[in-house]
Amino acid sequence: AQPVIVAIDGPSGTGKSSTSKAVAAQLGLSYLDTGAQYRAITWWMVTNGIDTEDPSAIAAVAGKPEIVSGTDPAHPTITVDGVDVSGPIRTPEITAKVSAVSAVPEVRARITELQRSLAASAKNGIVVEGRDIGTTVLPDADVKIFLTASPEARAARRSGELKGADVEATREALIKRDAADSSRKTSPLAKAEDAIEVDTTDLTLAQVVECVITLIEEKR
Ligand code: C5P
Repeated sequence: AQPVIVAIDGPSGTGKSSTSKAVAAQLGLSYLDTGAQYRAITWWMVTNGIDTEDPSAIAAVAGKPEIVSGTDPAHPTITVDGVDVSGPIRTPEITAKVSAVSAVPEVRARITELQRSLAASAKNGIVVEGRDIGTTVLPDADVKIFLTASPEARAARRSGELKGADVEATREALIKRDAADSSRKTSPLAKAEDAIEVDTTDLTLAQVVECVITLIEEKR
């Protein structure tokens, strides 16, 4: 079979990561979490004392960190200059700062190049999840999915993941991050014209996975 390229985009808390990992594992494809790459470069900026509210300071060093993503869906990894940052990139501090860093065009150019080269080298194909995969990174993807869910469902899922985090505060943080991601100039969060929208509000993870796999098989 030809390698299949699957783009899964959508706002935070819609189930992109869980869905993408499960789909990739079941179909024997590679998996790339592009949000983790933006979190990793944000972590490097914070660790090196770069002001994340200063786009020109960020642009000046955007090429410095070496970011390496492992694409096994059963065991996705991410390192920056050889350091495993899978844990530290998930803190509330990085989550609050990632939208500002990822809005900088030099950062996007750098990360987009990494994403394209990983997609091109995936043997059986790859599931790539993010915000601008179907629109900008891989506009020729074989299958494009745009996941949505109500703000309430998204906040409930996120606070469940964060074990007991306040649902209302989580909801506000999510809405703020999505607004920033959707309104930036360079490749904002958006549904590609040819993407299939799946509302996951009332679906279980297993149902969403089945739906996405069916869409992929139809295209193969
Ligand atoms: O998916 P996740 O919540 O980990 O993404 C973190 C952040 O990375 C997003 O809020 C967004 O600012 C940025 N991002 C992006 N483009 C992508 C994936 C993530 O700008 N393709």
